[in-house]
Amino acid sequence: NYSAAWLKYQLLEQDYREKYADLFSDIYLEINDQKIKKSIIEELELAIGNLFNKKVNFVSEPESAKLCIVDFKNNIIKNDNKIKKLNNDQKKDAFLLVNKDNRLILAAKNSNSKLYGLFKIFELLKLKKDLKNIHLFKQAANNIRMLNHWDNLDGSIERGYAGKSIFYKDNKLRKKLTRIKDYARLLASVGINSISINNVNVFEEETKLISEKFDLVKKIYHIFSAYGIKIFLSINYASPMEISNIKTADPLADQVINWWQNKVKKIYEEIPDFGGFLVKADSEGRPGPFTYGRNHAEGANMLAEALEPYGGILIWRCFVYNCQQDWRDYKTDRAKATYDNFKYLDGEFNDNVILQIKNGPMDFQVREPVTPLFGAMPKTNQLLELQITQEYTGQQKDLCYLIPQWKEILDFDTYAKGKESQVKKIISGDMFSQTNTGFAAVVNVGDDYNWTGHDLAQANLYGYGRLAWEPSLTAEIITKEWIGLTYTDDPEVLSTISEMLLSSWSIYENYTVPLGIGWMVNPDHHYGVNVDGYEYSRWGTYHRANHFGIGVDRSVKTGTGYTGQYFEENAEMYESMASCPDELLLFFHHVPYTYMLSSGKTLIQHIYDSHFAGVEGVERLQILWKGLADKIDAKVYNNVKNRLKLQLENSIEWRDRVNTYFYRISSIADEYNRKIYK
Ligand code: GCU
Repeated sequence: NYSAAWLKYQLLEQDYREKYADLFSDIYLEINDQKIKKSIIEELELAIGNLFNKKVNFVSEPESAKLCIVDFKNNIIKNDNKIKKLNNDQKKDAFLLVNKDNRLILAAKNSNSKLYGLFKIFELLKLKKDLKNIHLFKQAANNIRMLNHWDNLDGSIERGYAGKSIFYKDNKLRKKLTRIKDYARLLASVGINSISINNVNVFEEETKLISEKFDLVKKIYHIFSAYGIKIFLSINYASPMEISNIKTADPLADQVINWWQNKVKKIYEEIPDFGGFLVKADSEGRPGPFTYGRNHAEGANMLAEALEPYGGILIWRCFVYNCQQDWRDYKTDRAKATYDNFKYLDGEFNDNVILQIKNGPMDFQVREPVTPLFGAMPKTNQLLELQITQEYTGQQKDLCYLIPQWKEILDFDTYAKGKESQVKKIISGDMFSQTNTGFAAVVNVGDDYNWTGHDLAQANLYGYGRLAWEPSLTAEIITKEWIGLTYTDDPEVLSTISEMLLSSWSIYENYTVPLGIGWMVNPDHHYGVNVDGYEYSRWGTYHRANHFGIGVDRSVKTGTGYTGQYFEENAEMYESMASCPDELLLFFHHVPYTYMLSSGKTLIQHIYDSHFAGVEGVERLQILWKGLADKIDAKVYNNVKNRLKLQLENSIEWRDRVNTYFYRISSIADEYNRKIYK
């Protein structure tokens, strides 16, 4: 038993139903892919059955149909201006939805796009939109719209906060597969087209997914391919050593090259449209090419060459840094690692290699700058990696809606090619004319009834899909849509949940870590406050607070030199305290507590104020939610209510510990004399 999330279909209101029922009576479907055809038929039966309480009827000629699902080239549509203008060589998924003489025409670039267009129709119906005058053209901005699962075969999920894996249990595939199918439906409905199905840390059992456990992969593949979603596997770089007798994993050794080529050949014999591999190598203890004195390009290209004949893709993660650092060392800066490890290799990677780069230089903190690697490798395919699972943003106990954060990342101007070189243009491939580019994200899903632990955390998954398709959508639009599709279009519910979601990131930031410094969490599990939790550890994650100030000097002039990795305009902006944006000040500079921020407050006063404001923000969330008691399903209502209660306790703990810590260390009192424990 689990929630249908945003794919709930209830009988539409009578007036609206009567207006449109006729449009969905006789349907013509032109489609080659038999698996997707079957899915489309099932989806139509389900949605139209429930929304209109009627059966759908398929006809064999477009002329006699009211709803026509066709290719762009079909005669009934090919003269449409939008389609004429489309460059047909363009790889990007696209569809056009138009009402012509009281017939609804869904024309699409390919089978996948027919599915996307169909879900769009259901969405419009659920939101009671006008279909009489519709002329809607949608084209995906990004070719790759991917999710990464960090699921292990034993059913655990690394950084999972919503129960156990929906795929695996006890080192086997789960017995019931219907939930996986419903998951594929949810993903396709927001345009996701790729998925990696196991943790990037590939341990013993998971290493066997490319050998004795491959049958399991095939079963998952069949489910996802019916919804246009490609399967990728995370692989263990040392596989030849672990599942065969070869004594090395050196990417330049013939026996290793042959071993991978054979492996890949066998995979494609079984799954002809297998997506490819995702690799975490030489990172946090995982094996990789460094052991053999080879660089990342040599390491990645060997696998890419094995995949290339079949159209496969090799995704290589850039999360590579020294995790054995010494806190006494003020020169080594973890923030610099990604750029230092990859930038010099631009142009060395094969065309079917994509570098997957985390949004920030550290690790999915509530606030970090955008990594300087975006745009710095014009000859290399780049994929943005986001984290939907809320490792550092409340673990789906605290509410933290991430769409506003992702919008800032996507809109960040890198200046790679002068002004207007935003991240979204680099990862869409538009800036450097690339096709193997796009979005990836670590997903937040588990087997909890609501998929995401916190009911409202579903919005992060939904919004991710929408943004990956159309990064220019605003957070407000996505939010409204999600609420309308998941709950109701009641204006009070819409405005209340919108306010809750849209304010939640800044509330969370307020009561946790100030001005981009990050961390301050309990080590290992990363939940809850611990100001010095990572201060003297080996992970390179320091705040360097002392009696006078806090922050890491990353300037070129006096610090680690990290600011110098950005293009000039940004390098200059971050280099000086005066021009560095307040919200990132402590990431880039070591700042005295008495320093005046551009907000007109001293740093210490900002720390106090924001922490009091954070708790007040959570109280406001509680009040808002209480107002919906009669308007929201009891199970959902209670889930959110209970989590908000926990969030309040959590935020109070953060506020008091952080404020006390900085009061004790700075000896500066709060201007307003509020309660700070001495
Ligand atoms: C973080 C996270 C790990 C994960 C790693 C990665 O460090 O805490 O669990 O393995 O990121 O992205 O590879």
